[in-house]
Amino acid sequence: MTKLRSVVRGCGSFLPETVLTNDDLAAKVDTSDAWIVERTGIRERRVAAEGELTSTLGIRAAEKALAHAGMRADEIELIVLATSTPDNTFPSTATAIQAALGITHGAAFDLQAVCSGFVFALATADNFLKAGQYKTALVIGAETFSRILDWEDRTTCVLFGDGAGAVVLEAREQPGEADDQGILSTHIHSDGRFYDKLYVDGGPSSTGTVGCVRMSGREVFRHAVVNIAQCIEEALEASGMKASDIDWFVPHQANKRILDGTARKIGLDPDRIVMTLDRHGNTSAASIPLALDEAVRDGRIQRGDLVLIEAMGGGFTWGSSLLRW
Ligand code: UT7
Repeated sequence: MTKLRSVVRGCGSFLPETVLTNDDLAAKVDTSDAWIVERTGIRERRVAAEGELTSTLGIRAAEKALAHAGMRADEIELIVLATSTPDNTFPSTATAIQAALGITHGAAFDLQAVCSGFVFALATADNFLKAGQYKTALVIGAETFSRILDWEDRTTCVLFGDGAGAVVLEAREQPGEADDQGILSTHIHSDGRFYDKLYVDGGPSSTGTVGCVRMSGREVFRHAVVNIAQCIEEALEASGMKASDIDWFVPHQANKRILDGTARKIGLDPDRIVMTLDRHGNTSAASIPLALDEAVRDGRIQRGDLVLIEAMGGGFTWGSSLLRW
């Protein structure tokens, strides 16, 4: 029986120009390039310029994704933007992006699941498309975490960066088999008992301020290893696939040690991991579409390849998706 699947028509990404190296950070806080590289794998990250907003980055990524898909903006019916760093508390940054793209129909909204945001947004758009409610969607991850960092806190300020990535999805009838093109399954989870392990110490309803990122790094690390492996196994099981079937593993980029450990645990070839962490740092909801776009543009990800994505972030939230490019 045929099945409606969300097929990726194209992708795009955008990074702000300013590069902040580990040495730049070592001049501000008590850290070193050696510590950051050894503990995280990060060498540098990008930082948005003054006046360069989350919407600015999201618009640029969306325009590139549309060009790559060979589609006009007015062919898009749904925009889901994953971000934890919106331009304003409201309206949604997605509506700013919608207006900039000249789209006046359909719906646009933000979705907040911190570093898991892109997986949550992809799952949301996929369900709208599979239900037949929309035919096309733009799923964007865009962040300016540099605006919510405490630049005196070495335990967090060395980890994050700014950027945006986007994919264009289109609902297409597929044969309903394992080698269908498009999103094969999505799996999202949250457990709010861990709310205070990775959070921002401000907000409109609590302090009336924006706040800064606070994290119990070691605890997040411990849970990330377990939760990521669990939701990868869930994705493989749902589609009847094995780790050896995966062509490309495009994880959320938080820590190289987590990614290497995950690959080892589930038996993935380390050469199949798309890693951008060294140059982008952790760009939260933007990291997966940024990495996807890089691997598509440099020819690693080809049509027909099986791609596994996963993420874990504040909440805690975590999730995975298997898709055939
Ligand atoms: O994207 C959302 C999900 N986020 C994550 O997955 C992040 C998960 N956590 C991590 O990636 C790691 O826990 C970190 C990279 C944040 C930290 O690495 P760690 O190996 O867990 O270090 P730690 O927090 O246990 O700290 C070890 C030492 C401490 O010093 P003492 O107490 O041993 O004297 C820290 O104060 O390293 C110190 N430290 C630093 N030293 C130099 C912490 N940050 C720094 C720093 N530079 N930037």
